[in-house]
Amino acid sequence: MSLDVAALSSCTRCRLSESRTRVVIGTGPTDAALVLVGEAPGRQEDEGGEPFIGRSGQLLFKLIEEVVGLTRAQCYVTNTVKCRPPANRVPARDELEACRPWLVDQLADLSARVTLTLGLTAAREVLGATLSMSAVHGRARHLGTGTGIATYHPAAALRDPALVAVMRADLAIVRTLVAAS
Ligand code: URA
Repeated sequence: MSLDVAALSSCTRCRLSESRTRVVIGTGPTDAALVLVGEAPGRQEDEGGEPFIGRSGQLLFKLIEEVVGLTRAQCYVTNTVKCRPPANRVPARDELEACRPWLVDQLADLSARVTLTLGLTAAREVLGATLSMSAVHGRARHLGTGTGIATYHPAAALRDPALVAVMRADLAIVRTLVAAS
């Protein structure tokens, strides 16, 4: 089904709607070669209405530009849940379930062949990953829509700079996948 943007913009399917400022739907061209799925909007995203406009996003798009050769404007960017969890906690299972149909419709509208998930929540939601991040990152897997691959969340790399090199290595694989798609 096609994403109903008007309905999503006023969604009250879960408790996150009570504390959000805005529903952060996603940005980018629907024919983007690469789709990025993060976890949830943070404070800046909740205020600004766009995904990954804070510090995590700055690191993420610096790496994507350097390694994959795509700009932010060339990627479609969204999150597993569209409303900010209070204090940036991990979205609860029922919140992920409530938001999943929106994500499914959203991904179905995109023609991208490569989907990159950021962090464990998105790897679980989109790729069906069941193991730890260290076990699932950097491995391309078949998705109904093309190829999916996981890397660490940029916020984790801001806390632990050693992960930047791991993200670069994962993004080098993404570059190959995008070139082949
Ligand atoms: N972290 C995310 O997972 N998504 C955002 O949009 C911002 C920070």
